[in-house]
Amino acid sequence: MDEIDFRNQVAVVTGAGGGLGAAFCKELARRGAAVVVNDLGGSTTGEGGSADYADRVVDEIRRSGGTAVANYDTVATEAGGEAIIRAALDAFGRVDVVISNAGNQRNRRFGEFTADDIDAVLAVHVKGAFFVTQPAYRQMVKQGYGRIVLVSSQSGIFGNPIRANYGAAKTAMIGLMNVIAQEAPPGVAVNCLFPNARGGRLGGEPGDVRPDADFLAAAAERSRHYLDGMDPSFVAAMACYLASGACDSSQNMYSVLGGKYSRIFVGLTEGWFKPGAAAPSVEELAAHIAEIDDQARYVVPRSGLEEMDTAVAAALRTAPTRP
Ligand SMILES: NC(=O)c1ccc[n+]([C@@H]2O[C@H](COP(=O)([O-])OP(=O)(O)OC[C@H]3O[C@@H](n4cnc5c(N)ncnc54)[C@H](O)[C@@H]3O)[C@@H](O)[C@H]2O)c1
Repeated sequence: MDEIDFRNQVAVVTGAGGGLGAAFCKELARRGAAVVVNDLGGSTTGEGGSADYADRVVDEIRRSGGTAVANYDTVATEAGGEAIIRAALDAFGRVDVVISNAGNQRNRRFGEFTADDIDAVLAVHVKGAFFVTQPAYRQMVKQGYGRIVLVSSQSGIFGNPIRANYGAAKTAMIGLMNVIAQEAPPGVAVNCLFPNARGGRLGGEPGDVRPDADFLAAAAERSRHYLDGMDPSFVAAMACYLASGACDSSQNMYSVLGGKYSRIFVGLTEGWFKPGAAAPSVEELAAHIAEIDDQARYVVPRSGLEEMDTAVAAALRTAPTRP
């Protein structure tokens, strides 16, 4: 395998003042990328601000001979997103990679969330991904090349307790990826990363609830088998692959957990087809629910049109003469 390098490339990583984002920046810089290290600093809810976090990562990269600049804007506003990408253009003239990684959490049991807990988390994860990716995407379209990595979470696609706001926000990355991937010109790829690692600052705020003891014990029992693989460098390897020209696939989702790398996909069961113009009764539908649920045969549609193809196939099997 040829060495994967980022020479003459510019990468922007949001929320990179520590944890995973810092690991991504260091690996990208070690492989030759000029890096914009963005972090608002401050609390893990994304409030307040401190330049220290981003500055420390930039200093470390420069001391190792790499190229980096810091940026302290919030991802959560349109102006912030524009400023983050402008920092890359002002310093280095292009944007080849954007890793939308900034994150916050406000953990509660579902019945106890306030509107503010919901807004604060959606603002950083959903709007943040949108506001940073959009100006980067415009630049990538102009260049004819770009790699977008949206950092999602198992808390959304598979679910974890006390994180309804965060899980919902992180699952929005999937929709964003699917749509961008279908609009993007050749040369611009977008994929989702589902990381798991120790060392991040995300842990909620004082006053946040913790998962119950049974859940924590079940998680601890599992994770002791793969603790070695929880170093952020394991996630950085996949982030850098997805950020590189070696990755020419788009609209894919990859999980990294304890040294295990997997692709995640959304499947559609073969299901049950009701022919004719009369809708089924609820009882008729209920009588077919096992067939609808049956996971033995499924497809992985890559677009809304491909889901339509599955209905076309079912219709043609039932009434093959329909024009
Ligand atoms: N660590 C894990 O196991 C794990 C698991 C699943 C998903 N994730 C996701 O990976 C990403 C990185 O997580 P981490 O564990 O390194 O946590 P982290 O807290 O160390 O990193 C998140 C960073 O985002 C920054 N940030 C928050 N709001 C911001 C804003 N508005 N603008 C700019 N920066 C902002 C924070 O200051 C922080 O440094 C997050 O999106 C997180 O949701 C992490």
